[in-house]
Amino acid sequence: MLPYNIDHVAIAVRDLDATLESLQKLFGVEAVSREVVIDQGVEEAMVPLGGTALQLLGATGPDTPVGRFLEKRGEGLHHISVAVADLDAALEHLRAAGARLIDETPQDGGGGARIAFVHPATVAGTLIELVEFDG
Ligand code: CO
Repeated sequence: MLPYNIDHVAIAVRDLDATLESLQKLFGVEAVSREVVIDQGVEEAMVPLGGTALQLLGATGPDTPVGRFLEKRGEGLHHISVAVADLDAALEHLRAAGARLIDETPQDGGGGARIAFVHPATVAGTLIELVEFDG
């Protein structure tokens, strides 16, 4: 189970439009995609930055994972996403290694990607997302 890249760093935001505007003004970067992922209760925007990307996460409502995160911790770092070639193998490996998983099976991450979250208790209080792209 070798991660081959940091796919993105995700930040929870209260106002997606305002944050995108700030990033554009301050760093000259723009979102290449924006979509609502119903299953995850998020509206997300992907902003390429160097060899990786920032993912801005807005909540579709207060009673969603990101909604509760914003309520509890406010805006800021939400998760680090690590790309893997084989998500099923990665989950199997982590389970065998005793990692605490939030998602026991892959979820729909939007954009055709499959994702799974590893509990923050596993690595230094940091939520880690594993992502596998098809093709
Ligand atoms: Co993500």
